[in-house]
Amino acid sequence: NKDIYILGIESSCDDTSAAVLRDGVLLSNVTASQDVHKAYGGVVPELASRAHQQNVVPVVDQALKRAGITKDRLSAVAFTRGPGLMGSLLVGVSFAKGFARSLGIPLIDVNHLQGHVMAHFIKESDDDTSAPPLPFICLLVSGGNSQIVRVNAYNDMEVLGQTIDDAAGEAIDKCSKVMGLGYPGGPIIDRLARQGNPQAYKFAEPQIPGLDYSFSGLKTSFLYSLRDWVAAEPDFIERHKEDLAASLEHTIVDILMKKLRKAVKQTGIKHVAVAGGVSANNGLRAAFRDHAERYGWTIYIPKFSYTTDNAAMIAITGYYKYLDGVHCSIDAPAFSKVTF
Ligand code: KG4
Repeated sequence: NKDIYILGIESSCDDTSAAVLRDGVLLSNVTASQDVHKAYGGVVPELASRAHQQNVVPVVDQALKRAGITKDRLSAVAFTRGPGLMGSLLVGVSFAKGFARSLGIPLIDVNHLQGHVMAHFIKESDDDTSAPPLPFICLLVSGGNSQIVRVNAYNDMEVLGQTIDDAAGEAIDKCSKVMGLGYPGGPIIDRLARQGNPQAYKFAEPQIPGLDYSFSGLKTSFLYSLRDWVAAEPDFIERHKEDLAASLEHTIVDILMKKLRKAVKQTGIKHVAVAGGVSANNGLRAAFRDHAERYGWTIYIPKFSYTTDNAAMIAITGYYKYLDGVHCSIDAPAFSKVTF
């Protein structure tokens, strides 16, 4: 009975990450983040590709070392195939292909979004029982996507609703940029919001039917309101940034939770998880706890380290595909855009 060792590789945006699992249990998860983008207020694709190119070998090396294995023990290589920045993806995809081919082991492609959801199945030890039971509903909120997903099985996910324009994280980041707060805006808005009044200002909430989201109207409403206030009072942002952050966060969380309640009602599934970078947000986490109490939901909130981009979530998704015998061919191209 040979142990199954999976190497996961993630390079879809600005984090180069590698992780190793043994029989679905995480042995190592190493991530190199890229500070180079801070000066530009957003990820610069060409700089991201170059940094991945520098980081990918040392990061994989570290992940294997920390896992205490050599590369010849690996059973398969799982990699992020998309969606993401093409130049960034290509580094991880090409590395994974070359590595798997040189070792003569299977290659497994992973959808980055599915990976975010699957972060809930990362086990840190054999007796880790924190995973949600199937089926469950997952709110996936990251920098590039906002979706409500019904998870029927490890390899069976159904998108019930998704954003028709911007993602929640994108909206937060853009509003933060307009306020001159820096990048990425999510953690900054989160920190400021804790000291502000969430009822101080009102911003437009979208009226979209069904379970879909929209955040572009909110962004515009925020921008125009701010423009008027600053015209009347030049130091408005500096004086009210806490209230602005708290009100913005409150509006976004409100929009997210409204549709999530609707999804729970429609499906009758009360096991509700959250995933993706924005799930690090304290206001959103508080709203989840509040809904658990008020509506009897059982909620699943991942550890901070598994909410943003990481290879552990890619490795665990790859592990379940491996168990199902699902591999991909060496000529599988990266894709920049896709849903499940
Ligand atoms: O999942 P992720 O790392 O990247 C994608 O796959 O898109 O998500 C990044 C997003 C960014 O928009 C970032 O501002 C947001 O997650 N974010 C947060 C917080 N931490 C990260 N948003 C709100 N509050 C936070 N604490």
